[in-house]
Amino acid sequence: MLTRTSGTEIARSSTVLSDALAFAAAQVVIETAKAASLLAGRGDEKAADQAAVDAMRSALNAMHIQGRIVIGEGERDEAPMLYIGETVGLGDGPEIDIALDPLEGTTLTAKAMANALAVMAFAPRGGMLHAPDVYMDKIAIGPGFDPDVVDLDAPIAENALSLAKAKGVRPHDLGVCVLDRPRHSDIIDALRSLGVRIHLISDGDVCGVINTTNPDTGIDMYVGRGGAPEGVLAAAALKCVGGQFQGRLVFRNDEERARADRVGITDFKRRYLLDDLVSTDAIFVAAGVTSGSMLQGVRCVGGYRTTHTLIMNSATRNVSEIRTKLPMD
Ligand code: FBP
Repeated sequence: MLTRTSGTEIARSSTVLSDALAFAAAQVVIETAKAASLLAGRGDEKAADQAAVDAMRSALNAMHIQGRIVIGEGERDEAPMLYIGETVGLGDGPEIDIALDPLEGTTLTAKAMANALAVMAFAPRGGMLHAPDVYMDKIAIGPGFDPDVVDLDAPIAENALSLAKAKGVRPHDLGVCVLDRPRHSDIIDALRSLGVRIHLISDGDVCGVINTTNPDTGIDMYVGRGGAPEGVLAAAALKCVGGQFQGRLVFRNDEERARADRVGITDFKRRYLLDDLVSTDAIFVAAGVTSGSMLQGVRCVGGYRTTHTLIMNSATRNVSEIRTKLPMD
């Protein structure tokens, strides 16, 4: 199930979101992953994140785009680089809104654990929600199901039973991915009492959501509370390969409500569907920093450095993986 766009809309958006642009974006995450990987397993989250930010910014600034960051490292006063609203690129190409996470999984990288990624999504101007840096309640499933099979507002047990029925399997045969946090203990208990298999992850819910679209992972549903920026990035990925995503921003205090206010959000209780988060076509690119279920991390073997990158473009419906192998400098 791909995006509900007409032929004319696809033609229009693919002139902006060309595959050439997608492959140029891939180059940015490859450079970012390479830089971050040098800090893998060194126990320094900040240094790993900084290396990723520096590499991503300089690669983005070499692109022929008029780029505007809508999801970045934070607000201008708290993020010296890749802040929300920062313009990037050479300023001579298409107008692109960018959601980015130079290092999705700073702790994963610092501890050399699986599934750290360098991630970015592109959309034409206005195509993605300007999500504030707050939490989001999320539920996601893969492609091919009726739109009402899961509901963010329904009890988790109901969603699991409904998905199992739609798949024609027992709840025992269902895999659900959940971030391993105390705040998810009720969700975990409810799923365990149904016998559902729970894939607990310590970090990295962009990957957790995308894994629902790949039957090889054994993950049928992602559920729980994680970062809102990561929610938009994951929604951009699902826009390209199909799948369902629902999310609602979570505000814990006035400071967080003020953040939402500053990016123009007025309805604080809104349930966002995939098309509300990413309303146009989108490009999604991710490069592995450490090896995991989705991508291989950067590896240095026999004098060569190898990388593994996923490139998806909903405008052209192209989904590619590239592996590079270059002599180490
Ligand atoms: P970082 O890359 O900033 O470390 O975030 C990783 C992550 O696990 C996200 O994938 C997830 O959405 C979020 O953190 C969860 O936040 P928290 O660690 O506060 O539960």
